[in-house]
Amino acid sequence: MGFVQQIYSWFWKTLVNQLLFTYLFVIAFALAIVTFWALFTIKSESIRDLRNSLEVESVHLALEIDSDLSLDSPQATARIQSAVDRHASRLGVSITVVNKSGHVLADSDDRDSAAVEKEGENISDEPEINDALGGIMAFYQRNSAKNRAEWLYVAYPVRSVGETVGVIRIGVPLTGLNQRLNQDLIFFLEIIVATLVTTALISLWLARRFTQPIRHMSELSRQIALSGDITTLVPVQRKDEIGELVSSFNQMIDRLREEEKLKHEFIANASHELKTPTMAISSVVEALQAGAAEDPELRQKFLVSLENLVERQASLLRDLLDIAQLDVSQKNQWQEDVNLAETLNEAIEQIRPQAEKKNIRLNIEMPDVAHIIVGNGIQLQRAFINLLTNAVNYTPANGEVNLGSNVLDHHVELRIEDTGSGIDPKDLPHIFQRFYRADRARTRTSGGTGLGLAITREIIVRHQGRIEVQSTLGEGTTFSVWLPLRREI
Ligand SMILES: Nc1ncnc2c1ncn2[C@@H]1O[C@H](COP(=O)(O)OP(=O)(O)OP(=O)(O)O)[C@@H](O)[C@H]1O
Ligand SMILES: [Mg+2]
Repeated sequence: MGFVQQIYSWFWKTLVNQLLFTYLFVIAFALAIVTFWALFTIKSESIRDLRNSLEVESVHLALEIDSDLSLDSPQATARIQSAVDRHASRLGVSITVVNKSGHVLADSDDRDSAAVEKEGENISDEPEINDALGGIMAFYQRNSAKNRAEWLYVAYPVRSVGETVGVIRIGVPLTGLNQRLNQDLIFFLEIIVATLVTTALISLWLARRFTQPIRHMSELSRQIALSGDITTLVPVQRKDEIGELVSSFNQMIDRLREEEKLKHEFIANASHELKTPTMAISSVVEALQAGAAEDPELRQKFLVSLENLVERQASLLRDLLDIAQLDVSQKNQWQEDVNLAETLNEAIEQIRPQAEKKNIRLNIEMPDVAHIIVGNGIQLQRAFINLLTNAVNYTPANGEVNLGSNVLDHHVELRIEDTGSGIDPKDLPHIFQRFYRADRARTRTSGGTGLGLAITREIIVRHQGRIEVQSTLGEGTTFSVWLPLRREI
């Protein structure tokens, strides 16, 4: 892997890297631009000021020496030299005066330094002198041919009666200005470094603060994935979005715990329910083997109870299979059009024999038009059978079971009413739980396992419906079911 790729993947590896280096890059970039712009502005403004003052000085000097320039005599040259020296030392600049042919007449550096411009030398090839001899005021910022440093030159053409009689050139080394700019640059760099260090520290601290709970959660998820252990929660220490995320994560774990608990309870209950009839069956068989089979009356009695026990076992297994099937089936698989009246009729026909056996009157009030429910017909029928079976089972002989229906705009309301035993208010909130039976002693003999209503509610809910119960002990029970109807397009 190339170096750039390594850096790239390292950057994306952690949130801390991404936050930290993005901040640092943006800040460094912004500060670099500010620095560049500031130094550039300082330099150009200083040079402009310098240029203006040199221009003014050259005009002053020109006024003093213009008449001597046209004279071209040793006395005139001496006067020019002394004027040049005076101005140069007052201003701290170099001044050179050339005549109209470009020969040096006077130079302020002449006597002290290693003679910048020699007297009498022709310097008309230097760009600013050349421009000024042509009558143009010239500014040049260039490296001096003599000492290699950067200089600013102003060359002023001195005119007399319409022609250029000579040139005054004032030069200032820019070394001082450049040094000052270098110092400024160092100062700016110090500010940049200090800002970057502070930003790095603050964003590292912030990034760690943000990512710590996230790392905590991902560590916990990994543990759950590996060991299935859901005993720990992530501590919630914040009230911001990350705190919310942590709370939702904890809620999810809580939910998992609840599901886990329900699953264990379900398995424990199911095994217990399966064990009871199995043991009863084996003791009946034992009794038959021990000699009960000899006596025809006793044998008949034992065989009938054997039949009941096996039937109970079979019904329990059917319910367990139903529940298991409901748990694994996917919600969106239930999309068929179900004719409500047909489904209800089939359910009624199935329980009619039981009702007739107990001489229970069935009063049926069907919806008048065929209404369609989107879902699963077999499951819906199972739900109706469960409710009707309960109504018949828990109603004493000669009672009544009524089925009422009421079609509203977008849904249908069904009522299954009986004149049975009713349900104790203390049991009412629990009857939809798996394996819950209100009257255990009685239901044991009548074969109930307490799964019917749990299955029923699950089926109704999966059809986006709702089920409620109202009951008065000793008078009767009413189950109300709401189911959405298919919308006619
Ligand atoms: N119409 C009713 N009248 C009185 N009690 C009822 C009625 N329907 C349900 N119950 C009570 O609610 C309990 C739970 O009903 P559910 O149908 O879930 O189980 P079950 O009838 O006991 O067994 P099964 O799983 O065979 O249906 C019943 O044991 C009974 O006590
Ligand atoms: Mg039942």
